[in-house]
Amino acid sequence: MTGLNIITVPAAVLKEKARPVDRVDDALRQQMDAMLETMYDAPGIGLAANQVNLLNRVIVMDLDYREDGKDKNPICMANPEIVWRSDEKSVMEEGCLSIPGQFAEIERPAQVRVTYLDYHGKEATLEGDGLLSHCIQHEIDHLNGVLFIDYLSKLKRDMFIRRVKKLTKGQDPL
Ligand code: NI
Repeated sequence: MTGLNIITVPAAVLKEKARPVDRVDDALRQQMDAMLETMYDAPGIGLAANQVNLLNRVIVMDLDYREDGKDKNPICMANPEIVWRSDEKSVMEEGCLSIPGQFAEIERPAQVRVTYLDYHGKEATLEGDGLLSHCIQHEIDHLNGVLFIDYLSKLKRDMFIRRVKKLTKGQDPL
């Protein structure tokens, strides 16, 4: 499983809810590897299964990636679940590989704690703030069919989708 295609708006799969995985096995690890490769190639710092037309609850992230390929620090999560959110909020500019070239400031809880199954199928917990917190929430949103543009006005959302349609015109939608 290599060279996954990244789905862009307004594809229906991006609005669907992904299903929990039963376990993390070799097949799922292959999916995680392929998603990471696709994310690094894009390049991006996070990718959710919906974005590569797979509807299981898997996300991958790497906030440390540099173009020279050094300092890779991939995080793979299956069945991620936010179990705590801070009252404090944070505003950061977000973008999305499924909404190429479009960015907006999004407000989210500043800190979150997430439980998940890691690459080896082990139960794990991660707490993050700043970019990591935004990234975790953004990717888990994807698994619930929610995009960052859903936090914007309909006017702005429609404008972003129109721009992406123009940008991806004539390209294979899958
Ligand atoms: Ni995204």
